[in-house]
Amino acid sequence: MGAAVRLLLVLPLMAAVALCGHTVSGRTHFHKKPPPRGGGGGRHRGSGGSKDGSVVSTPAVPPADEGNGTGPTPLMPPTPPAGSIVPSDPATPPAAPADAEPCVFDVRAYGAAGDGGTDDTQAFRDAWRAACASDSAVLLVPADGTFTVTATTFAGPCKPGLVFQVDGVLMPPDGPDCWPASDNRRQWLVFSNLDGMTLRGAGTIEGNGEEWWNLPCKPHRGPNGSTLRGPCDSPTLVRFFMSRNLAVEGLGVENSPEFHFRFDGCSDVRVDGLYISSPANSPNTDGIHVENTQRVAIYNSRISNGDDCISIGTGSYDVDIQNVTCGPGHGISIGSLGVHNSQACVSNVTVRNAVIRNSDNGLRIKTWQGGMGAVSGITFDTVTMDNVRNCIIVDQYYCLDKRCMNQSTAVHVTDVSYANVRGSYDTRSAPIHFACSDTVPCTNITMAEVELLPFSGELVDDPFCWSAYGVQQTPTIPPINCLQEGLPEGLLDSPDLKCR
Ligand SMILES: *[C@@H]1O[C@H](CO)[C@@H](O)[C@H](O)[C@H]1NC(C)=O
Ligand SMILES: *[C@@H]1O[C@H](CO)[C@@H](O)[C@H](O)[C@H]1NC(C)=O
Ligand SMILES: *[C@@H]1O[C@H](CO)[C@@H](O)[C@H](O)[C@H]1NC(C)=O
Ligand SMILES: *[C@@H]1O[C@H](CO)[C@@H](O)[C@H](O)[C@H]1NC(C)=O
Ligand SMILES: *[C@@H]1O[C@H](CO)[C@@H](O)[C@H](O)[C@H]1NC(C)=O
Ligand SMILES: *[C@@H]1O[C@H](CO)[C@@H](O)[C@H](O)[C@H]1NC(C)=O
Repeated sequence: MGAAVRLLLVLPLMAAVALCGHTVSGRTHFHKKPPPRGGGGGRHRGSGGSKDGSVVSTPAVPPADEGNGTGPTPLMPPTPPAGSIVPSDPATPPAAPADAEPCVFDVRAYGAAGDGGTDDTQAFRDAWRAACASDSAVLLVPADGTFTVTATTFAGPCKPGLVFQVDGVLMPPDGPDCWPASDNRRQWLVFSNLDGMTLRGAGTIEGNGEEWWNLPCKPHRGPNGSTLRGPCDSPTLVRFFMSRNLAVEGLGVENSPEFHFRFDGCSDVRVDGLYISSPANSPNTDGIHVENTQRVAIYNSRISNGDDCISIGTGSYDVDIQNVTCGPGHGISIGSLGVHNSQACVSNVTVRNAVIRNSDNGLRIKTWQGGMGAVSGITFDTVTMDNVRNCIIVDQYYCLDKRCMNQSTAVHVTDVSYANVRGSYDTRSAPIHFACSDTVPCTNITMAEVELLPFSGELVDDPFCWSAYGVQQTPTIPPINCLQEGLPEGLLDSPDLKCR
């Protein structure tokens, strides 16, 4: 009987669809992890996948390690026996009612080759279409394959409980020369218009970014280290757009041509246990970018790259970042905000239990001159710095070409607290730098237990501090004596500075 089912399954498509019917034995079903895992964490990879990286093992009960996250997960899950794209244990009966169990849509059953070379895009699209139409479906990228797909939008709305599970390797074509001319060059995988979707797995999304980084239009990649002008579009690896109730768990994501993740127009997002890695000199490879997105949790992740570890753009509220290790890279950044005199609003962002190492910045807020709106309610609590330039920086004169004029408006930076920020700085820059706007000073900056020492070399004793108001609850190391008490006059009542 097991053999019969297996036979059925190798018939592509039809079999996969058939197996989701309630009349068929539930042995291709497996139990989905409940989306938010309480704590557990750890920064190892693969915490979102089943323990052995194989979802096809038909557990009758949820995986035993669920929730406690013990034990490292191997970098690549063990390869299941050849041909075992379907469950092979005929003895396990389904334990729960069929409607509580997801159907598995293995991309191989839709014709994907997974041999690293074949274009498997159509198989992914077909598998998506089928999974999207089914309750609690799992689109499975199996562990024993390397799948290449071209730029694809996986659009909803879909039935609830959809899981996109990457246990193998998933990658785009290798570099701009292989990018199909008709494909969008600014994004690769796009998930849009979804409600209640999980992207997870014990596998890897490999961005093949190197040739994009070396385009001569990238910073200092042109002839003789110059940068050539010109369009320099490169794809964001994974983009979530206009979606809500999202979870992204446990994946390794590496070598993105540009941003690794971008959340835009989303709400209720939970990122947990990601491992993001690109070289320190890869341009514009932000780890996780959040914009116009509310209620975001980013937990237990490790990010090294060539740009911001996490960047938070306008329209982002209620962002909770915990247990994140950054570096090398450019640190955790709010902004840049207010470009081209725009209004920008970011509020209620917490960064707690972070480690930032070998980075060009630590905790940064950057705004352009001439903007409007506010950055408010920002808490940095318990952050360890390890050889970081500009550990704490507010830059309201952000400008890419150094020719920006001072303007009379700015995005107001207010209610920012730095508590228990310790470690070492790279002495090429002052460890604390508050460059606030002349016309719209920073207000209510609170510092407590900020202690930063040189990683090597001499103390930099002159933190930069301009137009900043606030309090030191404990003496800061290095000492700063520029925070002004109280509030500046007048201007802060301007309606331009109000957000929600
Ligand atoms: C952060 O890590 C600690 C220690 O490992 C863990 O107890 C806590 O649950 C983690 N926080 C989150 C939000 O996962
Ligand atoms: C984690 O779960 C495994 C399997 O149930 C169990 O053996 C182990 O003791 C648990 N560890 C913790 C810390 O709860
Ligand atoms: C690069 O530098 C070399 C040596 O300075 C020079 O001969 C060459 O013309 C430069 N190439 C360009 C494109 O500027
Ligand atoms: C701030 O955001 C957190 C989630 O990160 C939320 O629990 C809290 O209620 C928010 N606070 C306010 C004042 O909105
Ligand atoms: C802008 O204002 C700052 C602070 O007053 C000053 O240091 C800087 O030189 C000014 N820049 C220009 C271009 O005027
Ligand atoms: C100053 O900011 C803190 C948060 O960092 C906030 O709790 C407090 O209410 C603010 N104080 C004033 C006077 O707005």
